[in-house]
Amino acid sequence: CGIIGYIGPDNTGRIVHQGLKNLEYRGYDSAGIALTGETLTLAKTEGEVDELTAPQSADATIGIGHTRWSTHGEPTETNAHPHTDCTGEIAVVHNGIIENYDALKRELSEQHVFQSETDTEVIPHLIETHLADGISLLSAVQRTTKQLEGSYAIAATAAGHDGIVVAREDSPLLIGHSDSATFIGSDATAFIEHTNRVTYLESGDIAHLTTDDIAIYNDGEPVERPTDTLDWDAEAAGKSGYEHYMLKEIHEQPRALRQAISGRIDDLATSVDLEVDLPTEYLQSIEEIQIIACGTSYHAGLYAKELLETHAEVPVTVHIASEYEFRGDRDPWRTLVLAITQSGETADTLSALREAIRAGARTLALTNTLGSTVTREADDTIFIRAGPEIGVAATKTFVSQVATATLLTVYLGQVRETLTSQAATEFLESLRDLPGAVQQVLDQEPTIKRAAKTYADSKAFFYVGRKTGYPVALESALKLKEISYDHAEGFAAGELKHGPLALVTPDTPVIAILTDQAAAEKTVNNVKEVESRGAAVIGVASDPAITTNVDTMFEIPACGPLEPVVANVALQLFAYHVANKKGRPIDKPRNLAKSVTVE
Ligand code: G6P
Repeated sequence: CGIIGYIGPDNTGRIVHQGLKNLEYRGYDSAGIALTGETLTLAKTEGEVDELTAPQSADATIGIGHTRWSTHGEPTETNAHPHTDCTGEIAVVHNGIIENYDALKRELSEQHVFQSETDTEVIPHLIETHLADGISLLSAVQRTTKQLEGSYAIAATAAGHDGIVVAREDSPLLIGHSDSATFIGSDATAFIEHTNRVTYLESGDIAHLTTDDIAIYNDGEPVERPTDTLDWDAEAAGKSGYEHYMLKEIHEQPRALRQAISGRIDDLATSVDLEVDLPTEYLQSIEEIQIIACGTSYHAGLYAKELLETHAEVPVTVHIASEYEFRGDRDPWRTLVLAITQSGETADTLSALREAIRAGARTLALTNTLGSTVTREADDTIFIRAGPEIGVAATKTFVSQVATATLLTVYLGQVRETLTSQAATEFLESLRDLPGAVQQVLDQEPTIKRAAKTYADSKAFFYVGRKTGYPVALESALKLKEISYDHAEGFAAGELKHGPLALVTPDTPVIAILTDQAAAEKTVNNVKEVESRGAAVIGVASDPAITTNVDTMFEIPACGPLEPVVANVALQLFAYHVANKKGRPIDKPRNLAKSVTVE
């Protein structure tokens, strides 16, 4: 879900509405705005932000808005935020989950009438009970948060009370400062066209924002939080003429990759500087790495496992974050837990990270998002520097995650003396070649688009690969299913014959990632198995001689150990054009959200 708030002299309804449009990628099943002055003006809708008419109020200088991705209660107008109290004068927007809402609701129900099925609605009712004691809105929110259990980012306003009071417990929230106005947002995209100066709130912070002041408290005591300047602007967050954010982000990959490696590889391609404080003795003595991640980041984790185990000679396990437990009697100090998360806010990943921290493991985050929760909680962070990604389906962050994991592999391999200097140079040169290789694939878009048109109406799509081609098969299938709604599955090529082959028919094209010479030769045998069942085969390879009789070939440039990443880019374009031919809402696929901040 997304939160925006505004205090300033301009048209409050319009600014909050625009902020919600910017935030739609965080959730888009219902939306609402409250404007506050002497009275409260409320507008809510089921559906997307475009369905919502920005409310107008002559005296309102304060506005809050919310775009929702349902967790408690159907996506209806009644369940949309902002929620109000019985008097209709207090408005609250909330991200996260109030775990004890049931008990609170039962208690309050004796005197309060509830409208919605949401956990959020207890908050305005609690604030109402405290305001009845004649205290300020700030004190009322402070008292209220003491009664809440769970995770939340809250913004509250009340008619006749000055300003917005915000509170943060786990869920992200930041303040934006322009010369004439103050903003709040669940991320900076909410207000980036107005300012790039931001203050990140910390867990437990409660802030009172008024026209001329910002006061932040933690545990009742005033605290100072620094102001940062973001190095991206509204243009970087816009669509720049592309039909969809996803297509723009696919085309931004050469730049994203250059940013990921910039300044991190020395001129002679012999060493890596990751600006991370991991002591050499520690890296030499670690006995295992556990990777925790979800979705696309999980696939980047599988890719990283292949690299790290082979070249840094450290055993790696990759865990779907929601399934993670720190088990066994290992010495946690000898375990490095690597959390991979584009947003830095995925609740499942954060919860796994907290479990690792409790167990005593050292933790490292790989993320795209400066100031995100994961960067505060992990011991160390490496940024993937992909720039803002708005399309729900992750593209440029995947390739940047893999590129950064490659840098980490070389760094570890050198510290642990498991990587020869020749192998290190081969990796680093492959990384340097990667942006150019990706650009060559992007230049073939018309060919890939034609193939997408040919196969778009197939019944299902199967992707196969081996070694690092396997996570790319999983990721490419995920991309297609997310945005086209077609059935798509990725398999280890050798596994096909152990079951999935039963699904293969002339109506199910098989996409074979034929990137690593030795692995590709074996995969070709699997290709033959599906061809003899009448399935069409799309091959992705740098060496067309590897298989001569596939139906369609996406020829990609050779790129050493990172060639599967190049293959992935071709298959991102394939997925995009299949989905676009079907007229799917590519940037906002049904039922999905970019950042899932609930477990
Ligand atoms: C959501 C998104 C996926 C993403 C996953 C993990 O499910 O829809 O695209 O891969 O979260 O996100 P993270 O921000 O942790 O990488």
